[in-house]
Amino acid sequence: MRDYRDFLGEILISEKQLQERIAELGAEISRDYRDKNVLLICILRGGVMFLTDLMRQITIPHAIEFMAVSSYGVGERETTGLVRITLDLNTPIHERDVILVEDIVDSGQTIASVLDLLSTRKPRSLCVCALLDKIERREVQIPVRYVGFTIPNKFVFGYGLDIDNYYRNLPFVGVVDLEKYEALRAKS
Ligand code: PRP
Repeated sequence: MRDYRDFLGEILISEKQLQERIAELGAEISRDYRDKNVLLICILRGGVMFLTDLMRQITIPHAIEFMAVSSYGVGERETTGLVRITLDLNTPIHERDVILVEDIVDSGQTIASVLDLLSTRKPRSLCVCALLDKIERREVQIPVRYVGFTIPNKFVFGYGLDIDNYYRNLPFVGVVDLEKYEALRAKS
C-alpha cells in the first residue's frame, strides 16, 4: 500500500484546525443539550474518528450507538443513490435526543435515508452533526444542525475518510491528487 505522501495534493484541514473546531462543536452541543437524554449515533465507518474526539469534548452525560450504511463500493467515487442499512441499532430511541454523527455529507443520500428510517422510531428529537459538508454536491436537501467545515468539491481523505478503505487513520483531512493516485494504482 502506498504512502499517502505519494498522492497527497494538499492538507485541507490540519489536525490543529480539526481539534479546535471539534472542541467548539462539543461545547455547543453540551450547552444545547443540557438536561436532555442524549444519544450520539455514529455512522460507520467514516464517522468513528470524529465521534471519539467529539464525545471527549461533550461535557454532559450521553450514550453512543453505531449504525452502518453502505452507499459507495470499493473503487466507486460517487454515490449510487442506493443506500443500504448494513448494521442497525440494538436499542430503541423513543424519548431519546438523537444526534447523528457523520464524517461527511456529500449528496445527502446517506443521511436522508437514515433520517427517514430513524424518524419512524419516534425519537424525542433528531438532528445531524457532520464534520464536513460538501454542500455544492447536494442532491437531497437535509437539515444539518452542526457543521464542522464546509469544504469544496474535492476528493478528500484522512480523519475517518478512506480511499478504497485505507488511510482513515490520518489525523488531518487531505486532498487526493487523483492523477498521481491513479497513475500509482495502474503501476501496482
Ligand atoms: C461516506 C460517508 C457518508 C457518505 C456521504 O460513506 O461516510 O456516510 O459517504 O455520502 P452521501 O452524502 O453522498 O450519501 P461510505 O459509504 O463511503 O462508507 P464509509 O463511511 O464506510 O467510508
